[in-house]
Amino acid sequence: MTLQLSTAGESHGPALVAILTGLPAGLMLDRDAIDGDLHRRQQGYGRSPRQQLERDEVEVLAGLRHGRTLGTPLALLVRNRDHRNWEWGMSPWPPVGEPSGKGTKPVTLPRPGHADLAGVLKYGHEDVRDALERASARHTAVYVAAGSVAKTLLAELGISVTGSVREIGGQAEGWTAAIDDARADRDTLGGVVEVRATGVFAGLGSYATREDRLDARLAAALMGVQAVKGVEVGDGFALARERGSAAHDEIEPGLRRRSNRAGGIEAGISNGEEIVVRAGMKPLPTLMRPLDSVDLATGEPAQALVERSDVAAVEALSVVAEAVVAWELARAAREKLGGDALADMKAAHAAYLERTRTR
Ligand SMILES: Cc1cc2nc3c(=O)[nH]c(=O)nc-3n(C[C@H](O)[C@H](O)[C@H](O)COP(=O)(O)O)c2cc1C
Repeated sequence: MTLQLSTAGESHGPALVAILTGLPAGLMLDRDAIDGDLHRRQQGYGRSPRQQLERDEVEVLAGLRHGRTLGTPLALLVRNRDHRNWEWGMSPWPPVGEPSGKGTKPVTLPRPGHADLAGVLKYGHEDVRDALERASARHTAVYVAAGSVAKTLLAELGISVTGSVREIGGQAEGWTAAIDDARADRDTLGGVVEVRATGVFAGLGSYATREDRLDARLAAALMGVQAVKGVEVGDGFALARERGSAAHDEIEPGLRRRSNRAGGIEAGISNGEEIVVRAGMKPLPTLMRPLDSVDLATGEPAQALVERSDVAAVEALSVVAEAVVAWELARAAREKLGGDALADMKAAHAAYLERTRTR
């Protein structure tokens, strides 16, 4: 048994949903903790006014009774409060009445860097909105909700996961000024985030197959987040420029390490050190000073779509990255320790720690 996550939802549709399967029974969830993480995702300097427009809250539809998981699929829902402005434009069924609100006119001006052109070509859409609505990072809200549940499970095993911003627009500090400058130029920025997981015991993941490798799973999870274009584990690319004598983490009696340049993973397995991963985010593709494009309706040169958008969303990405890393670690822990019930999982954890402690 493993943890599985399925999500659905468009950016301006009625709601986002997530179904989490494989959670052990008996895990006490905290609604405020999930809502707190959802709120964190909406924060950050450089976000669009949409974030003030809607305050995300989780609703639980199944899998929970009196706050405790039942060991059955957990169904989570986060409403798009902004949908009230898109009721006609994003109506799941053929809309009734005269067009009103937003999204009533087809979008034909694909933005370089967004899903718009590749999406309409692949799926045969006429209206770019049919592609961009799902491609949008709005649905990272339910990744964050799922990640919050995962963090609660990991906390039972003494593991904590924290994401933070390393740089925005190439600035390691003073990035609010960089964001102000970009906004004034009607431009956008990207950046780098870091996720650290402490308390991770040795033995998550495996070298047995490519799919089992924890580093591969974390990289895929982070790459699965919109706008992430690079991932490194530990000192990643810097290691590529060094000698082996400088690059590897020497082992001392007590099986302690002198350094952690590997970022807590060797051969696709957690090695007991802190897990450290970083993700690089490209500048956001929606510019208020639009890039050159082509009008798909006419084939003529045109300017790309301009719609409400963030200048930078790196702080939000740090929260999403934390969530997807937590989810992957919880999934690997569930595979390692089994456990239909949380008590079984904790007992297996204690027995495993005891076995490895005596080495
Ligand atoms: C938290 C977050 C917020 C984002 N906000 C925006 C935004 O406001 N405007 C925009 O153009 N792209 C935004 N993006 C990036 C796009 O969703 C992304 O670039 C697009 O879906 C194309 O996918 P790709 O960049 O992975 O190739 C955001 C990404 C994240 C992770």
